[in-house]
Amino acid sequence: MQIQLDRGSRTALHLQIAHQIKEQILRGAIPDGGRLPPTRKLAETLGVNRSTIVQAYESLWSEGLVESHVGRGTMVRHASGRQSGSIAPPPWAMLLAPKVEALEIELRELSRLFDREDVISFAAGLPGPDLYPVDEISRITCDLLEREGRSLLQWCTMQGHMPLRRILAEKYGTTPGEVLILSGSTQGLFILARAMIEPGDFVITEAPTYLGALQAFRSQGARIVGIPVDENGMDVDMLENVLSRTQPKFIYTLPTFQNPSGATMTLERRRRLLDLAYRYRIPLIEDDPYDPLRYEGDTLPSLKELDTHGYVVHLSSCTKILFPGLRIGWMVAPKRLIEQLTPSKHLLDIFTNSVAQAVIAEYLGRGLLEQHIERVRPEYRRRRDTMARALKRHCPDLSFSVPDGGYYIWCRLPRGLAAKDLLRESIRERVSFLNGDVFFPDDLGHEMMRLSFTSQTPEKIKEGIKKLGSCLKKMKRGRSETIRDIDTMATPIV
Ligand SMILES: Cc1ncc(COP(=O)(O)O)c(C=O)c1O
Repeated sequence: MQIQLDRGSRTALHLQIAHQIKEQILRGAIPDGGRLPPTRKLAETLGVNRSTIVQAYESLWSEGLVESHVGRGTMVRHASGRQSGSIAPPPWAMLLAPKVEALEIELRELSRLFDREDVISFAAGLPGPDLYPVDEISRITCDLLEREGRSLLQWCTMQGHMPLRRILAEKYGTTPGEVLILSGSTQGLFILARAMIEPGDFVITEAPTYLGALQAFRSQGARIVGIPVDENGMDVDMLENVLSRTQPKFIYTLPTFQNPSGATMTLERRRRLLDLAYRYRIPLIEDDPYDPLRYEGDTLPSLKELDTHGYVVHLSSCTKILFPGLRIGWMVAPKRLIEQLTPSKHLLDIFTNSVAQAVIAEYLGRGLLEQHIERVRPEYRRRRDTMARALKRHCPDLSFSVPDGGYYIWCRLPRGLAAKDLLRESIRERVSFLNGDVFFPDDLGHEMMRLSFTSQTPEKIKEGIKKLGSCLKKMKRGRSETIRDIDTMATPIV
């Protein structure tokens, strides 16, 4: 069996191993029933930990490519034909292989860990489930069914439920013709990517940025240029430099409580960003799901509000300010663009869930969203402060700033430590977070980590951060031992 590892690659070693074995199985180079080398032996041959091979074999097993039996080891599963008279399942792994990206496999594996109930998760950017307005949603759904009957369960137009578009149009000071309802705002990113990007086109994002956007743009073959973000948002000087040398299709930005950095773009930078967009004639995609969740300082106008020339496509959603389950998001953009994008929406899912749209329209129409936000804001602020205090106490080596709003504390590990290694350690202690590199369009951010503070209660936050602190201490001890070892080995060669 031939396996070559690229230790400089952003793909984890266990995934590289799993991919290469998978490829050999699918080519028939390892036959049905063929035995894979024992994990210890392969680990020795490749010079990796045995747990890396175990993870690789688990990944092959989860794709139905191998079977493990105590005493007999791991064998390639019969992918074709019958086994002892029964019909084998379809060879899904073979059918899906070319489309599944390494990063997606990695995320799928990580999310399996995050979803476990016994894990304190700071990973997912979710609202606090304990704060969901269950009774209000239940009452509204019953009222609507009573009032509307069958028509509530009927189909809806591609562009979305008119009462909801009217309410949103009023909020944005525009017309319903400029509003497209989406099954979550990430769908808008895929629609825009599909409509605007040809393979090889440049697009500009912040670095770091929302992972869903990177995935949407990559899915169309975009070349992504990342512009660094500091505590005042995107570095617009650097952006200007890049714009003078490339012709991107658009600039994607999260000006308020950025995911993952928590940064908010200053008013001055917002104005400069718009000026640059006008000067170079590049549209701006403003992704803005966190804005009402401000715990400090004054609200800033969105790019959409500042835009006087129709350059901004604005996306937002119920996911962060309310809850994610109904999957309602929206795009506000010039009417002509909305008309051109609506057929893509139809192609993806015909129309957004009409019951969900009606429920949200009613919820907004009754003024309940404002009340909900007033309720969650102080609680999220408390969770943010609890996390910041616990980090200072238990993880004094992490550097971070406290965001004025939103969901995330973005931390830098001490020099030489990688967030992925800390994650491996912390998962053992049943605490999870997201390693920073997944938010970068290029191979950066390995020393960064994103902690989401909204979905856990203050008690769980304290418990989780304390455990994280122990993991960090353990890692640092491990590192200093390694450094000492290297020091003694590295006697000068004279
Ligand atoms: C910037 C940004 N946009 C969109 C989303 C997801 O929104 P939706 O659930 O509406 O697709 C997230 C969630 O992580 C986000 O951070």
